[in-house]
Amino acid sequence: MQFDKLYESYLSSFNEYLNKFCDNLNCRPKILKDSLVYSLQLGGKRVRPVLMTAVADITGVGAEKVKNFALALELIHTYSLIHDDLPDMDNDDFRRGKPSNHKVFGAGNAILAGDGLLNTAYSVLFDECFKGNEYVSAAKFICDCAGVNGMIAGQSADLLHEKDEGADEDILEFIYENKTGKLITAATVVPAILNGGRYYSELKTLGKKLGFLFQLTDDVLDVEGNFDKLGKTLGKDEQEGKLTGVRLYGLDNCKLRIDVLGDDCIKIIDGIEGDTSFLYGFVNFVKTRLG
Ligand code: IPE
Ligand code: IPE
Ligand code: MG
Ligand code: MG
Ligand code: MG
Repeated sequence: MQFDKLYESYLSSFNEYLNKFCDNLNCRPKILKDSLVYSLQLGGKRVRPVLMTAVADITGVGAEKVKNFALALELIHTYSLIHDDLPDMDNDDFRRGKPSNHKVFGAGNAILAGDGLLNTAYSVLFDECFKGNEYVSAAKFICDCAGVNGMIAGQSADLLHEKDEGADEDILEFIYENKTGKLITAATVVPAILNGGRYYSELKTLGKKLGFLFQLTDDVLDVEGNFDKLGKTLGKDEQEGKLTGVRLYGLDNCKLRIDVLGDDCIKIIDGIEGDTSFLYGFVNFVKTRLG
């Protein structure tokens, strides 16, 4: 199947599962459920669940085994976006083309919505743990990717180095690897863990490189994207004094680096057996995305 069609089919299966999860969320007061569901159902590319499901299919694990890991990962990602947009973090008024969670529900409720999504993700992951040891390892991997040696560390460094004129490439790489790379690595590695470790190191390196590629394109799109496609206010990185690829390397150099990173990803995929055509398409999708 063509890449676009296959992406669309992974996306719609995931969204169906997520919508069921939202319908079954049973919590009060009403504003709590409304604020969680608001951000989950705003849309979004669902890059992480789509990638995890595709890797599961390619490696023979199958979509069914990873569906709750994919759900948990998207819950964690969405929580990270709600908190990322808060006034004391990136202070972004728009997300996925609509007002950010805190613009609709207020900062206090947005903090709780993020906390609620994270805790619910852990609960989903704990349920998986009853299925066997490899499920426990996969759940633990996601927790580590989300935590203080993962996404949170990247977000912390991202804040620390705002307006830091002395920040260098090592720091940028730390930020990229953690704030973005770790959740994308979770998407590629969970299927490997469920598959007894086959292609673990290749898929881990692929996740890391895809994470760099994804964040570098995100930084470029902040400068030359289009609001209608991106769904986020442009020029925010410069406004907040963020340490980005664009700031460190310049726009043209970023584009060269995007090509090199894309080639690195392709070389890794070349070493994985099976029908990997979706993965090649995925690299191209990340490189050329507008949203
Ligand atoms: C945005 O992630 C945050 C970054 C890591 C750059 P996505 O671009 O995957 O956001 P959605 O889920 O599609 O809205
Ligand atoms: C966000 O990076 C990464 C996480 C939310 C963990 P950015 O701050 O660049 O993401 P956007 O541009 O707001 O989506
Ligand atoms: Mg940020
Ligand atoms: Mg941001
Ligand atoms: Mg950004």
